[in-house]
Amino acid sequence: MISTSNNIKITEIETSRISEVDFNNLPFGKHFADYMFEMDYKDGAWQQATVVPFRNLSIHPATSALHYGQAIFEGLKATKNEADEILVFRPDMNAKRFNESAIRMCMQPVPEEMFLEGMRAVLKQNSAWVPSAEGQSLYIRPFMIATDEYVGIKASDNYKFLIICSPVGAYYSEPVKVKIEMEYTRAAEGGVGRAKAAGNYAASLYPAKKGLEEGYRQLIWTDAKTHTFIEEAGTMNVIFVIDDVIITPSEEKDTILKGITKRSVLEVARDWGYKVEERPIKVDEVIDAIKSNRLTDAFGAGTAATIAPISEIGYLGVDYKLPAVETRTFSNKLKEYINEYKLGLVEDKY
Ligand code: COI
Repeated sequence: MISTSNNIKITEIETSRISEVDFNNLPFGKHFADYMFEMDYKDGAWQQATVVPFRNLSIHPATSALHYGQAIFEGLKATKNEADEILVFRPDMNAKRFNESAIRMCMQPVPEEMFLEGMRAVLKQNSAWVPSAEGQSLYIRPFMIATDEYVGIKASDNYKFLIICSPVGAYYSEPVKVKIEMEYTRAAEGGVGRAKAAGNYAASLYPAKKGLEEGYRQLIWTDAKTHTFIEEAGTMNVIFVIDDVIITPSEEKDTILKGITKRSVLEVARDWGYKVEERPIKVDEVIDAIKSNRLTDAFGAGTAATIAPISEIGYLGVDYKLPAVETRTFSNKLKEYINEYKLGLVEDKY
């Protein structure tokens, strides 16, 4: 059956695949919900917005995203409250960030209202896939690829914007041991580090693999020029608590992603009366704080993992153990708060 909702054409599935998924065992990003949103940009305009059964794409081998990497994405999570309503955490911020990424990558921005309407429509169709169990959610992945069928190098004239959804459980099952990366770089000033560009994640894989071979689950990225300042942790923003002050690298540098989870964490921290500092952080400052027992908490903040406690930091061949996770007042309270918030149990006052 084909129906339309707010100018979005909806094609219904014949049979749901939901019974094939074991919701008691949900790996991150492996199962996909019945419907996806799809909209093309061509002839200088966005075409009919559609919600269609989840399916493979058929693309030309010269599709420019495959060759030159004009590809960006976002990540959000949907949960359900007790009244069975679907809740999404600050999607307007993702819509804005998506378009900032699009502009940096010389791609066509998606009208913010269409981004949000498309998301609403695909979530409504996928409603049965939004888990209600604690720690689970429906991960929403909006993304856009350049679709010119052309191997010359130029900004594409055609794009495909899609939103797919994946029911997920926890991203990390335990606190992560990380290494301060002193050789490779995630992002350089003047580059595309601030954008959620697919290539940034590709570039991180080789150093991450080397880190894993040395026993580190993730890397802490440092600045490209001197490797003396901390930037991010893996695919997340990084936050430290030193002397009861919440400290995170400043977003002013274009090497740091404007994290939505991080922004919320800082707002909550200020509201709870913590002093918050967004500023450059030297690796030495963190190591000194660990050595003198002034570092009480450290974690990554991102959509996929939400809050990922760091258990150990490796730096120049020495592993520094961080305080036991159970003792971390700030991040434990935060995790509890964010869970309640996502389930609609506390008011959104920010
Ligand atoms: C996020 O946590 O925001 C991410 O982008 C993670 C994703 C690469 C799986």
